[in-house]
Amino acid sequence: MTVGPTKPRVLIVGLGMIGASFAKALSLSQSATVIGLDAQPGVAEKARAMGIVDEAVTFSELKVSFDVVILAVPVLAMGSVLAQLKPWLTGDTVISDVGSVKGAVVEATLEALGELPSGFVPGHPIAGAERSGLAAAKSDLFDHHLLILTPLPTSSPTAVQLLTRLWQSVGADVVTMSVARHDEVLAATSHLPHLLAFSLVDTLARESENREIFRYAAGGFRDFTRIAASDPTMWHDVFLANREATLNILRRFQADLDVLADAIENREGDTLKSVFGRAKSARDYFTEILSSRQRHGDDIRKNLIAAPVRSGLTGQVEVPGDRSISHRAVILAALAEGQSQLRGFGSGSDNRTTLEALRKLGVCIEADDAGGLLVTGVGRLGLKAADSPLYMGNSATSMRLLAGVLSAQSFSSELIGDASLSQRPMERIQQPLQQMGARVDLSARKTAPVVMHPVTALEPLDYRLPMASAQVKTTLLLAGLCSGVSMRLQEAGPSRNHTELLLKRLGCPVHTDSGVVTLGPTSQWSGFNCDIPGDFSLAAVHLAAASLVPDSHLTVTGVGVNPSRLGLLAVLARMGARIRLMHHRDLGGEPVADIQVDYAPLVATDSEADVSGLTIDEFPLLFVLATQAQGVSRFSGIRELRFKETDRLKTMVEGLTTLGADIELKGGAVIIRGQNERPLDGGIVDCGGDHRVALAYVVAAQTALRPVIIRNSGRVLSAYPDFAEHALALGYSVTVED
Ligand code: S3P
Repeated sequence: MTVGPTKPRVLIVGLGMIGASFAKALSLSQSATVIGLDAQPGVAEKARAMGIVDEAVTFSELKVSFDVVILAVPVLAMGSVLAQLKPWLTGDTVISDVGSVKGAVVEATLEALGELPSGFVPGHPIAGAERSGLAAAKSDLFDHHLLILTPLPTSSPTAVQLLTRLWQSVGADVVTMSVARHDEVLAATSHLPHLLAFSLVDTLARESENREIFRYAAGGFRDFTRIAASDPTMWHDVFLANREATLNILRRFQADLDVLADAIENREGDTLKSVFGRAKSARDYFTEILSSRQRHGDDIRKNLIAAPVRSGLTGQVEVPGDRSISHRAVILAALAEGQSQLRGFGSGSDNRTTLEALRKLGVCIEADDAGGLLVTGVGRLGLKAADSPLYMGNSATSMRLLAGVLSAQSFSSELIGDASLSQRPMERIQQPLQQMGARVDLSARKTAPVVMHPVTALEPLDYRLPMASAQVKTTLLLAGLCSGVSMRLQEAGPSRNHTELLLKRLGCPVHTDSGVVTLGPTSQWSGFNCDIPGDFSLAAVHLAAASLVPDSHLTVTGVGVNPSRLGLLAVLARMGARIRLMHHRDLGGEPVADIQVDYAPLVATDSEADVSGLTIDEFPLLFVLATQAQGVSRFSGIRELRFKETDRLKTMVEGLTTLGADIELKGGAVIIRGQNERPLDGGIVDCGGDHRVALAYVVAAQTALRPVIIRNSGRVLSAYPDFAEHALALGYSVTVED
């Protein structure tokens, strides 16, 4: 990957483990020319000889031009290094660092340079290793690790963009947050644990003569205190540089310890149980994130290899619970009064994100004996402030829907997300929420973090949605419900109506007529039982694959067939696909059926804006099918695809072109000239971490001439954990590359 038209020249000062690893990765990625500088004589030259940097310089001969400088020296040394560099900095130089404390770096910069230049954007990679020295430099150290940028009010967007691209080119997931928030977060998740580990080992060592006690310590002690073997000088720097934030969290921890000490002294078993129970649930969630990342989940860099099949796809399959309904059901259950039971809750990571966020907001959600969820609702005004920002991962639905709920609360909240989510538009919810009187802040680019400030009440809303979006509609309905105000929403086009159906079931005064949704003032609803049907958008993958592969006959059972989701079926019917809905039934107010599909040759079709809201997540599959249909297909009114997990118009046109399709983007429409039975070729495509795009390529590969390697498709497995297993059983050819 290259950054911009010309390669920037990046000066890295300090070639310790982090600096040298960044240098090595950057130079390997070919995204920059890397110049190394280290205070220790000979180190930069040695790094050049080892191929870690492209050029080596010393402070005494710094007559070299550079566009970016990255300070990879200890935090307390940053000021003096910057003072030495000052004569070589221009108004355009981008300045950043890798220090684990940000407030102190900002202060040191101000002191050294007399101002905070517009190119200055502090940074911090959340990656490290115990080993040090040039030989330990690891080019994959930042691969899929977080890089936090903390732009200042003075920072220029160009500097932020350039640094973002540089860090992304070495594999990092870039997120932004304020300096204060960064220092608070790190104080809690890194600095305090180090302090505790140092202190515990010290207490025990002094407690026992000759450190004899350690001979009896087992795994727990080892796990808990590993970090007490870290570098004392470095940590002394960190605590002095991040005094305020570490003291805050330390004092809170001391108070919590006192509670436990009192509980033990007074034999208050319930207090102990409730603290340990909460902690266990939080730790289980953390373990789950870590292990699902390792297994496959968030490891978007995993590749799927899909290959042509020799015979049809056959059999029967049941897909996970509907993602959209699961989000809505668990939120409404959390805000209900009393207990709710949800069966068939979506197994994908996005649904889990909403669930964990609600737990952090004080809702008790447990698994029941039958594999369902028991949610003890707190009432629409009963949520409690979370003690840290709520991490929404890759899930825009979680972020937008929860923003609706949280914008109506009397406490503040912050929603953050991964690199892809942090680039998705949030103004679409901010604007109408503000119209209701909510106080919602976004980044300068109108993206996450989404910060909600406390309000006492919201106003009723009469609003015309600028785009067909069930997410925006639901966000507003949730804000209206929580604040008990009425609203009238005029939709720009049809979109999924799961929220409206569920609200009607709960007895809330919601009505829909000719594209207008109205909600009357709502006081409260009670807990409910809900069976969640199979996810149509996941079923659609199998419907598309079987429509494409000759001799296929398969059935997807228990699928939600709400008409507001079935745009794909209407388009496929026009294309000649053979799809039948059977065994219609009702599941908690949502229509459900088994869907049977048989292979049939397809003809081209046109699809217009009026169906796009009903087909929104299925367009990648439709594009694939159109490449194999007879004639020219034209899909218009699909601008919203630009704002999904990736710009799906761009990713799909690029990928299918690579596979030999005749596809172009013209005047906002996608035009595909069908192959008239000429198969697609194989090749390497990149889905950019977008699971729907990856699944579309898996389908494409089933009738291609050669295998298709789908890069960055690990999220398929977090969105649809059993996909590989189901695909294998139905006869697909797809493997996950290790
Ligand atoms: C969703 C609505 C759609 C869809 C997304 C889920 C929902 O997004 O693409 O996967 O659950 O409301 P938009 O409302 O932004 O179109």
